[in-house]
Amino acid sequence: QVKLPCRRNYVQWTNSSRVLDRWTDHEVLKDWIRERIALFQPDRVHICDGTEKEFQDLITLQIHLGSMIQLNPELRPNSYVVRSDKEDVARLEHKTFICSDSAAEAGPTNNWQDPLDTTNRMNTLFENSMRGRTMYVIPFCMGPLDSDMSYIGVQITDSPYVVTSMKIMTRMGLAVLQKLGTDGDFVPCIHSVGHPLVRGQVDSPWPSNPQKQVVHFPEQRRIWSFGSGYGGNALLGKKCFALRIASAIAREEGWLAEHMLIVGVTNPKGVKKYFAAAFPSACGKTNLSMMAPEIDGWKIECVGDDIAWMRINKKDGRLYAINPEAGFFGVAPGTSYKTNPNAMEGIKKNTIFTNVAITPEGDVWWEGMSKEKPDRLVTWLRTQMTKGDIEDAAHPNARFCAPASQCPVIDPNWENPEGVPISGIIFGGRRSQTVPLVYQARDWQHGTFIGSIMNSETTAAAAGIRGVLRPDPFAMYPFCGYNMADYFSHWLNFASLAPDEKLLPKIFHVNWFKKKSNKFVWPGFGQNIRVLKWIFERTDIENPADGSVVKTPIGYVPTPESIDTSGLDITTEDMKYLLQVDTREWRTEVDIYREFQSKFSKEKFPKRLVHELDLLAKEVAAP
Ligand code: GDP
Ligand code: PGA
Ligand code: MN
Ligand code: MN
Repeated sequence: QVKLPCRRNYVQWTNSSRVLDRWTDHEVLKDWIRERIALFQPDRVHICDGTEKEFQDLITLQIHLGSMIQLNPELRPNSYVVRSDKEDVARLEHKTFICSDSAAEAGPTNNWQDPLDTTNRMNTLFENSMRGRTMYVIPFCMGPLDSDMSYIGVQITDSPYVVTSMKIMTRMGLAVLQKLGTDGDFVPCIHSVGHPLVRGQVDSPWPSNPQKQVVHFPEQRRIWSFGSGYGGNALLGKKCFALRIASAIAREEGWLAEHMLIVGVTNPKGVKKYFAAAFPSACGKTNLSMMAPEIDGWKIECVGDDIAWMRINKKDGRLYAINPEAGFFGVAPGTSYKTNPNAMEGIKKNTIFTNVAITPEGDVWWEGMSKEKPDRLVTWLRTQMTKGDIEDAAHPNARFCAPASQCPVIDPNWENPEGVPISGIIFGGRRSQTVPLVYQARDWQHGTFIGSIMNSETTAAAAGIRGVLRPDPFAMYPFCGYNMADYFSHWLNFASLAPDEKLLPKIFHVNWFKKKSNKFVWPGFGQNIRVLKWIFERTDIENPADGSVVKTPIGYVPTPESIDTSGLDITTEDMKYLLQVDTREWRTEVDIYREFQSKFSKEKFPKRLVHELDLLAKEVAAP
């Protein structure tokens, strides 16, 4: 028996002050909430306390509304499946806007709109948009509650799916209101699915609105998202706050907000180092961050799988990183006990799945989870499917949302308020050609250049065509909240914040996705430890030109012998192919980077990066 909250208490909220007073003495926050209530006109308002009971009540509500399905508790306790609308399955980059004061501040990689016009236009969209619904207020903290590196946000939403997902992905509830106190700063985030209900109207299992848009105001540090319920567009703590708004804050305050996993690597001698790695969406971050290493004696522990906030620690002058999130919102397809056993263990319970298929036993399934497709399935499109059907049972961007604490290899320091010291930064992308398995930058400036020239083949994480090569510098193309030319300058200048450049992480680039005859040549996944081992050892070496590397036009590439391939079934010829630097191919790359650089205004674009490109062009020029 489900108890629905009573239907008639929006009158209660015309006199909401007293009710709000019970929750907080933060006058700015209360005023903001009252103004939103007046605009959205919800039937009910619910301030989230973040308790387990609240979570369970909202799960029950979603099941009752028909928007969530409970999985078989014997197979997957406290776990649920939600299927979205066909048009609401990924981030919408063409509907994501950076509304800085001027278009120049947003830069050529962002969609810009005038902040005032947009505010007015969106106010019209938001007017009465929560009629017939409950407005939830979610106080959330990005980063451990006791960390100086954390920031607070408050998200208003009319989606219980968002509330339950935010409960997994962030620290949220009363403790955050307490931390906020009476005058703490917070980033106000508003979200509505844009689907008001009139009395008696039956709700859709995935309410949404065709006029989807995700809008950021970096100067005012606020986020407005309308019409979409999909994770990246609706869980505003994640991409919108922790990357787009945070990157703008980080630039002002002298730190880095990056699209990076954080991983601890321990060698057989027991020496431990942490690495941060930026790969574009659906290019292997979650997998690398919790990988089960395939060589003996090495250990991997996960701090974060998607976002890193990093600053120079005053105590020792090194770069420290925290994971601002508390959960994993990971790509399901391709995840299996073979490829990512730790993710599989981490999603055995307490997990919300989106757009996966359901088995007759009441468990989940997706492409790549097992070799054999189950005989019968209900697809993410809610259709029946039998084994012979060739369409996808799960959407290629189907996701799991699970608490980080459940990951069997979660790092003991994952909630350390100081963060963890970073020894190396690794860039990477999905490149079927040209880019070698791994190489190292000569220094910080060259490393920044390597980050700036990243290109990657598009994936299902964003709406649009897949497999098209596009620039994705630092894996931040869709997430940088300001002009990327300034972002590059920020990275270049960041070196001067460290007391000694030697204390800064070494910089590397990897590519797991090089193909021959349309097949991946490198085995990937747990075998990537072989590359991490090389990187790990390189971070001990003072002079990058030392040891068993080949100096190439793009940086230091390992000699084929220096990558440990013992016990691995790979030919010398394939290793050569994986590590080769073909100057002819790199001439084409240079053209791509020139074209990318030419999109920026000459005054803004850092000369040091133009210089690095000139150098590369000269080195790969035809003899
Ligand atoms: P993220 O979105 O960057 O976190 O990427 P994921 O780790 O979720 O991986 C995205 C997709 O790439 C999944 O389908 C993975 O199975 C696949 N993938 C991850 N790592 C590798 C790898 O080393 N090699 C290959 N071939 N595929 C990988
Ligand atoms: P991903 O996260 O990087 O794990 O794919 C979501 C996204 O970037 O859209
Ligand atoms: Mn991501
Ligand atoms: Mn991921």
